[in-house]
Amino acid sequence: MAPRKIIIDTDPGQDDAVAILLALASPEDLDVLGITAVAGNVPLDLTSKNARIVCELAGKVDVPVFAGCDRPLGRELVTAEHVHGKSGLDGPDLPDPEMPLQDGHAVDWIIDTVRREPAGSVTLCPLGPLTNIASALQKAPDIAERVAQIVLMGGAYFEVGNITPAAEFNIYVDPQAADIVFKSGIDIVVMPLDVTHKALVTQARNDAFRALGNAAGIAVAQMTDFFERFDKAKYGSAGAPLHDPCVTAYLIRPDLFTGRHINVEIETTSELTLGMTVADWWGVTDRPANAFFVGDLDADGFFTLLTERLARL
Ligand code: RIB
Ligand code: CA
Repeated sequence: MAPRKIIIDTDPGQDDAVAILLALASPEDLDVLGITAVAGNVPLDLTSKNARIVCELAGKVDVPVFAGCDRPLGRELVTAEHVHGKSGLDGPDLPDPEMPLQDGHAVDWIIDTVRREPAGSVTLCPLGPLTNIASALQKAPDIAERVAQIVLMGGAYFEVGNITPAAEFNIYVDPQAADIVFKSGIDIVVMPLDVTHKALVTQARNDAFRALGNAAGIAVAQMTDFFERFDKAKYGSAGAPLHDPCVTAYLIRPDLFTGRHINVEIETTSELTLGMTVADWWGVTDRPANAFFVGDLDADGFFTLLTERLARL
């Protein structure tokens, strides 16, 4: 079977970096057409730099990287240096990128690519705020029916919020963008905190990354050593939650994940619950299902896949 064509939209971010590495280490499964950076964990100048750092770490300097939106659709940018560090990739000491940013705006490249590739052949994989994706859908509504699927990290139901009591970071940063995406009619798979908080880098799993001995394995161990501090302090977690790699792993091994096809709506006005994903997990409304909302995973299977693939880089 031919590898699946994907566009990774991202705000690296240590967990984004691991998701990108997993994708680039899996050419038999995934054809990464390009990477589009968005403002999120850190400002756009850093996310677009970090995306290239990760491509070079993977030895894949031919992957085109584009800079996208530098702020959300309708509010000021909220960043997460308190989680990811000032650089967004704190932990390892990685060199500045030599590969260039591509000319042109990421949103235009997403539109052109989805229009150019056969209809139904491109999957969008947002790992950060949905600003670039929503902007592309607003600018070119015709692409909605051409996109094969959107597999995104964002939201929560049982886990509720990690940036406010009610909201997960990616959705909270740009609720208007999320509302556009979830109302687009595109086939959506959601990796919420409900599942990503079960993908924890325990010490044994971190040791396995480091034991790979290659640059990617050691860097991932160093990234997750840094990145785990926020969740250990807040939740008492056993290690760093690998939020974004759940997206890439799902594309490679969907059988590792379980969930429900339900209705998900986004709170876009209330100050108290702005950015909340109101997920009808229990089917108590007659609102139409619009997303496959993942609730659980085979964590050992996930980490076995991730570790095996990182060993290839
Ligand atoms: O809430 C977790 C999400 O926010 C992840 O994608 C992380 O990288 C940050 O973007
Ligand atoms: Ca992210």
